[in-house]
Amino acid sequence: MQTPFPFETIAPKEFFYGRQKELEELKSHVKTCSNVLLFSKRRMGKSTLIKNLFEEIDKDYTVIYIDIYNIITAEDFGKLLLNGITKSQKGDIKSSILKLTQFFKRTKVEPTFDPQSGEMGIRAVTTALSFDELMEDSFNALFKLAKEKNVILAIDEFQQIADIKNVKIDAILRKYMQEAKNISYIFLGSKRNILNSLFAYKSPLYAMATPMSLQPLQLDDIYNYSKKHLNISKEIVEYIYNLSAKETKLIQMILHRIYVEKDNIEKIDENLVDKILETILISKNDHYKSLFEFFSTNQKKAFKLLAKHERELFHEKILREENISRPSMQSSLNQLFAKEFIDKEDGEYFIPDRAFELWAKKKL
Ligand SMILES: Nc1ncnc2c1ncn2[C@@H]1O[C@H](COP(=O)(O)OP(=O)(O)OP(=O)(O)O)[C@@H](O)[C@H]1O
Ligand SMILES: [Mg+2]
Repeated sequence: MQTPFPFETIAPKEFFYGRQKELEELKSHVKTCSNVLLFSKRRMGKSTLIKNLFEEIDKDYTVIYIDIYNIITAEDFGKLLLNGITKSQKGDIKSSILKLTQFFKRTKVEPTFDPQSGEMGIRAVTTALSFDELMEDSFNALFKLAKEKNVILAIDEFQQIADIKNVKIDAILRKYMQEAKNISYIFLGSKRNILNSLFAYKSPLYAMATPMSLQPLQLDDIYNYSKKHLNISKEIVEYIYNLSAKETKLIQMILHRIYVEKDNIEKIDENLVDKILETILISKNDHYKSLFEFFSTNQKKAFKLLAKHERELFHEKILREENISRPSMQSSLNQLFAKEFIDKEDGEYFIPDRAFELWAKKKL
């Protein structure tokens, strides 16, 4: 059931709220063709923010969005980029194909038809091309498009390029970025340690983008929006906000479920929110259980103690509780960190998926 509180899909314009300051900041960067590195913890709303920005300004700019989460090879990156450029051309299909065919040296563009929606579109045929050819065609086209209208290229899950070891995508991007005028690059990502090293001193992308850390939504924005759809008090919105550790996705999940139930609810109070959270955790139980079962014994101990004790983790008494030594605790935490089940901020470890953390607190 669709509600005004999407939590699995990008919130469309009518269900998007808050973020006025961030939108203004991004607009001022793209106006001056500056590049941005937009980062935050997972599930805070980066992709949603950029998609909504693009919807607001796509009359004035050519906007290109690619999500590289699934890339395995450098060619995958090149194909996504080329297709992102192709899809950015809206309007009449015939003239889009004609224009892109002139812009690309090697790539063919063909019409597509989606039988479900009945919509026509276009796509780039990229099969026989090498990475270098894909990049050359992409940037050739980008530079030409940028002569017509300023271009914004957003690359989501950018940290994934660090997984491609045989090609230095960052160095190649730098080269093209320095040639280009009238193009803003927005790099989005959540793995802070990888992003930091990609943009660190002496790395190819050093000083190539202004960092922008996306903070949680403002409590007032959530309240002002949710009271339009629910008979909810500010105190309860604040309760949900804190319970979710300000994670946008979990906040949305709870509000979504309240909305679904709203006709059967007498009063939205803390008790109800607790019950709703419980049903959310039950629905995720199988998933979290199977993740947890894959941990080694010491990783299980470390994860459990982290969920329960947070920063007191290394106290003698707590280590004894699970009979784990300090070095084993440290190495298990490092392993969980490498696999991204846990994260670190200012030297303190935490579980970034708030629902997983709450599940662990309750069930372990
Ligand atoms: N400003 C907003 N208004 C309404 N809903 C939002 C807003 N920001 C995020 N959401 C919702 O929260 C969920 C998570 O947001 P999103 O996927 O954009 O986060 P993300 O930071 O890109 O996460 P990830 O790091 O996992 O990619 C989405 O379902 C989205 O619809
Ligand atoms: Mg995202």
